Amino acid sequence: MKTVLETERLILRGWEDEDAASLFKYASDREVGPAAGWLPHRDEGYSRAVIRTIFAKDEVYAICLKDYDEEPIGSIGLTLEGSPERPLDRGCAELGFWVGRPFWGQGIAPEAVREMIRHGFEDLKLKKIYCGYFNGNNKSKRVQAKCGFKYHHTNTMCRVIMLGETKVEHINVITDVDYWTQKSHKFYTGKVLQNL
Ligand SMILES: CC(C)(COP(=O)(O)OP(=O)(O)OC[C@H]1O[C@@H](n2cnc3c(N)ncnc32)[C@H](O)[C@@H]1OP(=O)(O)O)[C@@H](O)C(=O)NCCC(=O)NCCS
Repeated sequence: MKTVLETERLILRGWEDEDAASLFKYASDREVGPAAGWLPHRDEGYSRAVIRTIFAKDEVYAICLKDYDEEPIGSIGLTLEGSPERPLDRGCAELGFWVGRPFWGQGIAPEAVREMIRHGFEDLKLKKIYCGYFNGNNKSKRVQAKCGFKYHHTNTMCRVIMLGETKVEHINVITDVDYWTQKSHKFYTGKVLQNL
């Protein structure tokens, strides 16, 4: 059984085969996938295959809106294992996310990201969470800044295999120390530091 996470407006739960039509509806949009390093989905069968492989991994969640029949409208996930191209030390993870275009600009990604940060540090006991964005993706940059990520480094030659392109990628990080410091500051002052 996969974990289910909940925020004020969202349910974050595992992807299911029955979500293929919803996934295709939002992931076939050319404005979504390439900004995150993957190709737009070409048909519902492709979306189902993604659900059964990439989205079947631990810590990948469908972002579902409580006020929208709990239909998945995006995805968020922590990658816990690195690869030769993207090594990850023990206790570190990389966060990725996207939201369907009709739902942009409502703070849905930051709400899901904050819950994944909480889950990562409090439940999974992570030490660091990295999150990247391609140069020019100011929407993702903004989400990461609002959620407390800080600049770490830039990959000037990031090979994006699915797109067959090389891009400039900026990598941000949030550490367990940042997280717990912000949390205790919020507790003592009542201020929500993330809402910059
Ligand atoms: C990046 C993304 C997840 C943001 O999701 P979201 O739920 O809209 O997040 P927010 O509501 O906080 O909006 C983030 C910023 O996007 C910009 N934005 C929002 N809606 C927009 C729209 N319709 N058109 C252009 N820019 C928009 C705003 O600058 C906003 O920041 P601000 O309002 O705090 O200044 C979403 O745009 C997306 O899925 N993009 C494609 C995939 C992607 O880039 N994923 C991240 C890979 S690193």
